[in-house]
Amino acid sequence: MTPLLFSLPKDHALFTPLCKGLPAIEGGLEFRRFPDGESYLRVCSDIEPGQPVIILADLSRPDARFLPLYFLCDTLKELGAGQVGLLAPYLCYMRQDTRFHPGEAVTSRSFAHLLSHRFDWLLTVDPHLHRYHALSDIYTIPATTVHATPLLVDWLRARSEPLLLVGPDAESEQWVSALAQASGHPFVVGSKQRRGDRDVHIRLPDLSGYHRHIAIMVDDVISSGQTLLRCARALTDAGIERIEAAAIHGLFADRIEDQLQNAGVQRLITTNSVSHPSNGLDLTPLLLEPLRQLARLADNRPPTPDNQAGADI
Ligand code: R5P
Repeated sequence: MTPLLFSLPKDHALFTPLCKGLPAIEGGLEFRRFPDGESYLRVCSDIEPGQPVIILADLSRPDARFLPLYFLCDTLKELGAGQVGLLAPYLCYMRQDTRFHPGEAVTSRSFAHLLSHRFDWLLTVDPHLHRYHALSDIYTIPATTVHATPLLVDWLRARSEPLLLVGPDAESEQWVSALAQASGHPFVVGSKQRRGDRDVHIRLPDLSGYHRHIAIMVDDVISSGQTLLRCARALTDAGIERIEAAAIHGLFADRIEDQLQNAGVQRLITTNSVSHPSNGLDLTPLLLEPLRQLARLADNRPPTPDNQAGADI
């Protein structure tokens, strides 16, 4: 049975290419807010009994987006949908993965609990796994990860200039070292101290051998943007003249693009996991096959061990 694909919000950059590529039927949705802020939601598509449904959700700025997503999933099931899967290219609430201070909420765990009780499966791109080994540490539904690394590797390999990949902090080492190995460019990793949400300090190792290189800062998430901003300033202080930045998920919570440019960042590239003018890396080709498997387009067999919880694709 052809799956239905819904998008929240309606204009996610991946919606049309995924509908065409799978193929899936575009799900119609009416959504608005009542004057008091409550959500109104109506499914405008006919749903065949047992029809598989995929919801593509932008989970940047998640608090306002989560309830409509929850309501949509419930409504689809009430209307007769079969499995309802969540495609969240950016998976939010992954960074609070421990109780850093007494009494703090470990929101990654609570959020995983909420999604696992509502959806039948989850597909995401490079979730921030630092203290967790895999999504199956906290998600109890089949949760599949796609890696955006091949897109970044192709982008880096297409460059003929001498490049230096720069991971701003220890948490970025996993991305930057894999990229360096696959693309053949050298890399360094800085050390970061975050004293507050926007109070970030970065120290870089000795860069005296790299003054002729283009430094490409690589990170998984740009949230406030302070990590990249401070890293760019540290690169400039170290005498690096050409700086670029590449990230998988560009949330740009603080609209920091101009400040990055003023700090010497000449180019910024992100995937289209979250829609933004810097989207230069298209995730569509990486998502199609796992989505087909998860929505069981090919056949109706139960999920294979390969796409069980925590599997990597
Ligand atoms: C954390 O370690 C992540 O890998 C990113 O470096 C971090 O989330 C970026 O946050 P921000 O843009 O707010 O500095």
